Amino acid sequence: MTEARVSVMDRGFIFGDGVYEVIPSYGGYFLRLEQHLDRLDASLAAIRLDNPLARDEWRSVLRRLVGAPPAPDQSVYLQVTRGAPASRDHLCPADVAPTVFACASPIKPRRPEIATEGVACITRPDIRWLHCEIKSTSLIAAVMMRREAEDASALETIMHRDGVVTEGAVSNVLMVASNTIMTPPNSHLLLPGITRELTLLLAEEHGIRYLEEPVPLETLRNADEIWLSSSTREVLPVTRLDGAPVGDGRPGPLWQHMDRLYQAHKEKVRNGDV
Ligand code: PDD
Repeated sequence: MTEARVSVMDRGFIFGDGVYEVIPSYGGYFLRLEQHLDRLDASLAAIRLDNPLARDEWRSVLRRLVGAPPAPDQSVYLQVTRGAPASRDHLCPADVAPTVFACASPIKPRRPEIATEGVACITRPDIRWLHCEIKSTSLIAAVMMRREAEDASALETIMHRDGVVTEGAVSNVLMVASNTIMTPPNSHLLLPGITRELTLLLAEEHGIRYLEEPVPLETLRNADEIWLSSSTREVLPVTRLDGAPVGDGRPGPLWQHMDRLYQAHKEKVRNGDV
């Protein structure tokens, strides 16, 4: 990988003019590959960039990267930028070929303390733009938020706009009250997370109630449970928010239930059954 080269004029480098995906694979089988590739199509369409690869070409490139089953658990990072024109101009000439980059890296197993102790989060105003549904490589706000979390010994920053929760810097947010999952509805204010969607599907399949509704920050603070979801971290229990305990300060029963369902689903993926 250190020998791969990209032009210094690449618009990903100069403007952050690109989109990306992170797709987990278990045993050589991808989790929700088509949904990730659909979201890539949506991101590319939103920035008006034609997808340089056909769906079949993506499937074969990605499968080649992770290797044939049974392969180690890996996540694939892929990005498409608008390419490398001769000069810097916000307006890109039409004849520039997009740059495609993809690599696979091992998925680190979850630390056992996470299931017993959970993770800490902080809250901050959402300082991002108004097209958060696009999985854009322009991630400066997420980088700043991740640093703020780290400085507060927290894993993630949960963001809100005018007191209404949007999402984490690199994850979606779900909460539990009265045995019901609540999560902000998809909109331009958050990324339509594939893990969030899978969590809601599993809830539906197993008769767990859920609502996709705006979540005021004060409601989040009073939640019985708070969860984060992302492809690389699955569903995580949040047990401290801005230094205060969430619920009784332990990972909750509904998280434990959902985690079992999620792990069972992963096993099916690993065995090529979904
Ligand atoms: N990020 N919201 C944001 C802003 C994200 O960056 C991510 C994931 C999610 C969760 O989406 P999904 O369940 O599809 O992974 C929500 C990836 C993992 C990243 O940037 O590394």
